[in-house]
Amino acid sequence: MKKWSAALAPAGRIAYVNGRYLPHGQAGVHIEDRALQFGDGIYEVLNILDGRPTDEEPHLDRMERSLRELGIAMPMGRAALKLVVREMIARNRMANCFLYLQVTRGAVKRDHVPPPDGPRPTLIMTMRGQDAAGLARRLEKGVAVSIQPDIRWGRCDIKTVNLLPNLLAKQAAKKAGAFEAWLVDDDGYVTEGSSTTAWIVDGAGTLITRDLSNAILPGVTRQIMLQAAQHAQMKVAERKFTVAEALQAREAFLSSATGAAVPVVSIDGHKIGDGMPGPLTQRLRALYAAWQPPKKP
Ligand code: PDD
Repeated sequence: MKKWSAALAPAGRIAYVNGRYLPHGQAGVHIEDRALQFGDGIYEVLNILDGRPTDEEPHLDRMERSLRELGIAMPMGRAALKLVVREMIARNRMANCFLYLQVTRGAVKRDHVPPPDGPRPTLIMTMRGQDAAGLARRLEKGVAVSIQPDIRWGRCDIKTVNLLPNLLAKQAAKKAGAFEAWLVDDDGYVTEGSSTTAWIVDGAGTLITRDLSNAILPGVTRQIMLQAAQHAQMKVAERKFTVAEALQAREAFLSSATGAAVPVVSIDGHKIGDGMPGPLTQRLRALYAAWQPPKKP
């Protein structure tokens, strides 16, 4: 197979494609793959820390749910999938990185309606290095957010690879000098970031993030941070908040597998709080990092 340009290569040398571990530059899927033709697939991003996947079970739970909602079969059982994840970590010799996992409905003659008995789902995994210096800078200084209209579809709870509205919003945010876009629905409420969960802290110190619905992705980091915060008796509320409320917030932050509790210090050029990363954001990040799921009896 043709070698892809080095510009495509993430840090991980080895990619996984449908049962095979291949040099990244030689890994590819069929041109009739439905993810390429229609965006008919889902994905997950896992943070690999000290050689271990963070929040692996809830990520795999969400992956299974996304597949179920779209009627795509699991490419393999969960135990086998976890073995592939470990094999990727070992083969790439990357202890701290992000693992990207994508499952598509598979490759079949282009037709809007897939055949009832197939195709076989495509499973790919790649790894890329973390921009540790960039993240450290964002945690120390905080980031700017730009408000953008949420023009996505009615099933944002599914982690599909259809990210065009998210990409456009993030590109617009970048153009405006911001790190992330906060998407706003027709009623003026923030749904979430283009690739992160949105949080604010009100004047009473309550952590607020939008309640789960079809309007947002159920963030895994969000879920674990809520558990850790509740366990530490921090005040939390899962509810909608408006842009106006966000502008008045004492603190604001983003969460995702690629950065838990990243402080937001300005929204559309308005300073949030004192324009510095806030103490509750930092506390929540520490609680998340130290969080151990309760042992099953
Ligand atoms: N993004 N909301 C959206 C729209 C997302 O794309 C993501 C994750 C999140 C946070 O989810 P989690 O805490 O499970 O990572 C919220 C990944 C990192 C991405 O697209 O790269």
